[in-house]
Amino acid sequence: MTEWKAVIMAGGSGSRLDPLTRAINKHLLPVYDKPMIYFPLTTLMLGGLRDFIVVTAPKHVEQFRAVLGDGSHLGISIEIKEQQRPGGIAECFRICRAELEGRNTALALGDNIFYGAGLTTLVQRGLAHETGATIYGYEVTDPSAFGVVVLDRAGRPVSLEEKPKDARNGLAVPGLYFYDRHVCDIAATLRPSQRNELEITDINKAYLEKGQLNVEPIGRGIAWLDGGTPDDLFEAGQLVRVLEQRTGMRIACPEEIAVRKGFIDVDFLLRSIEDYPESGYKRYLRDVVAGIEA
Ligand code: DAU
Repeated sequence: MTEWKAVIMAGGSGSRLDPLTRAINKHLLPVYDKPMIYFPLTTLMLGGLRDFIVVTAPKHVEQFRAVLGDGSHLGISIEIKEQQRPGGIAECFRICRAELEGRNTALALGDNIFYGAGLTTLVQRGLAHETGATIYGYEVTDPSAFGVVVLDRAGRPVSLEEKPKDARNGLAVPGLYFYDRHVCDIAATLRPSQRNELEITDINKAYLEKGQLNVEPIGRGIAWLDGGTPDDLFEAGQLVRVLEQRTGMRIACPEEIAVRKGFIDVDFLLRSIEDYPESGYKRYLRDVVAGIEA
């Protein structure tokens, strides 16, 4: 069986959120009641992934360690690696080359937020393809702010472009990608784009040219947002607040997902939250345990 490693990109400059991001990494800013990074982390955990690398700027490594630890409290492993400057998303394959050797990679962008009933299946659809690459296509009003894929009538990809001016016929490509073990070799051949970044869209184009790019459409049952601007962040927080208050259930709670997926057991969870401050979050986790034990 193929072994998968998960990578979350949490570097970049966060300049569109200045001054919020002067002292704090963008991916640690709140989306209502949780740090943004909990969202891509839990999306990948839902798919069963347990072996993570978070890539961030050297000055933010300590902030991530404080928030995520080494993952052992969640029954997973989280290593943090440094990206010296924002050289592009695809630079992760150079930074993590040794760790990814011989393994497939699930890559999530740290500012992408998914929510919906079919989320586990969505991730599993990516993990089901052990060769080639799998990306997703999402209908948005203006795809030109994203990577854009155009499909033929049979749903096969015919072209891919990063932030095209005219994107009328295309679907936006969200920041969740699955690659076979050849991705690091492909990344090694990439040249920086005009904006001086190693583009993830160029990796996807290489798979498209080899006839090995699988595109999975995401239906309207899944919400996809990113947290790149103050408005994005505010809207994502509002969505999470409305859903959580209505249902009483929390979204993107890593401890809950870890225990429900069987990464940890309830006794371990209760012990590991002993040190958490008394808060709504801790009370919620105790309720989760009570619900499981009932
Ligand atoms: O949100 C999905 C889009 O993300 C895709 O449709 C695009 O194809 C992809 O290029 C990317 O576009 P953005 O312009 O939104 O990328 P941005 O520079 O905002 O970076 C996305 C995330 O990756 C963000 O969480 C920061 C992180 N990042 C980015 C760069 C350039 C890094 O960790 N290191 C980097 O060098």
